[in-house]
Amino acid sequence: MSADDLADRLPDLDGRWREAMRAVPRRLFVPGRAWCLPGEGEGHLIDRAIEPDLWEHAVCSVDTAIVTQIDDGAIGIGEGGGEYTSSGSAPGVVAAELALLDPYDGDEVLEIGTGTGWTAALLAHRLGDANVTSVEIDPSVLAVAEANIRKAGRSPRLVLGDGTKGHPEGAPYDRVHVTCGVREVPYGWVEQTRPGGVIVLPWISGWEGAHLARLTATGDGGAMGEFHRACAFMPLRSQRWSAPVVEGGFRRSSTLLDPRRVVRSSYGAEVAIAGMLPGVCGTHADEEGGGFRVWLWSDDSEAHAHYTPDYKRISVWQRGPRDLWDEVEAAFLRWVSWGSPGRDRFGMTVTPEGQYIWRDTPGDPVSP
Ligand SMILES: C[S@@+](CC[C@H](N)C(=O)[O-])C[C@H]1O[C@@H](n2cnc3c(N)ncnc32)[C@H](O)[C@@H]1O
Repeated sequence: MSADDLADRLPDLDGRWREAMRAVPRRLFVPGRAWCLPGEGEGHLIDRAIEPDLWEHAVCSVDTAIVTQIDDGAIGIGEGGGEYTSSGSAPGVVAAELALLDPYDGDEVLEIGTGTGWTAALLAHRLGDANVTSVEIDPSVLAVAEANIRKAGRSPRLVLGDGTKGHPEGAPYDRVHVTCGVREVPYGWVEQTRPGGVIVLPWISGWEGAHLARLTATGDGGAMGEFHRACAFMPLRSQRWSAPVVEGGFRRSSTLLDPRRVVRSSYGAEVAIAGMLPGVCGTHADEEGGGFRVWLWSDDSEAHAHYTPDYKRISVWQRGPRDLWDEVEAAFLRWVSWGSPGRDRFGMTVTPEGQYIWRDTPGDPVSP
């Protein structure tokens, strides 16, 4: 495996993007010391000075993201703990997003989240420096990105600022390339996109994983489009999760619905439940002895459901004003009653009033 053939191992890419990947090698954007998140297995430190082969392997891996900042820089790489706040995305995800972006020659692109600068440099190679504007909120991240991009011989417009506002000075854009997780699509991105233009973004609902969405500006003040592949992204700074504040004791009950079915059925169920229950987050874990637990939370409530192979019924604990497990169970069974549609049957519409998720057509919303 070598960095040179990385482009050939990315099936989503057409010839133009492959050429860009060869001309703008990822290695120029990976620091000597970073936290490596492989597609499978544990995260670990890479240090080019100590283990050059391990560093090289991470750079060349299609499914490896490389974390370059933790807790906005408050915690050093490799110290342990903290939230990941800047990274170079895995090449497989980068390729999928760029393929969905699908620009024409001469298109003007707004990118949100410069990060290491790799995707800004790829865009600049593909479309020309003058056609790419990339916005980054963190000054120290942007300074490193600028140096990386210069090493690659590119010079797109780099803007220090809050990308949720877009960059109205350069509007309208043909394409908006968002490389941080988005819970609520900032309306400015829609306003700044030319009619027929495209916004590609990772939608993070909080319920399980993120999904790439490709929205097209409809020219009447809105944007709409469908969901594509799964991905993982750190949220926009202003859309980070806050810890729930839950009061009162747990109410115990039980259910016959196996929580493993709810979280493992399909990406279609994931998108449907997230659309029906905005603001409800969830995660799950296998336990020793074949057990399985799902945790759910919103800003004021929490719940967990616990499967063990020994019992026919599943134990449920819920507290706060909402019965979150009951809500998720009802949403899942509603999805089943629709014939268990896959993710490609769902989409998102954004208007000045907000966003909603729909099934098959925007006229059939699943969101409340
Ligand atoms: C996954 S990284 C971007 C990866 C990047 N495209 C690359 O090629 O390396 C996400 C970046 O978004 C930045 N970010 C978070 N919130 C932002 C905001 N509101 N405006 C602009 N950038 C933001 C983070 O600081 C982080 O550097």
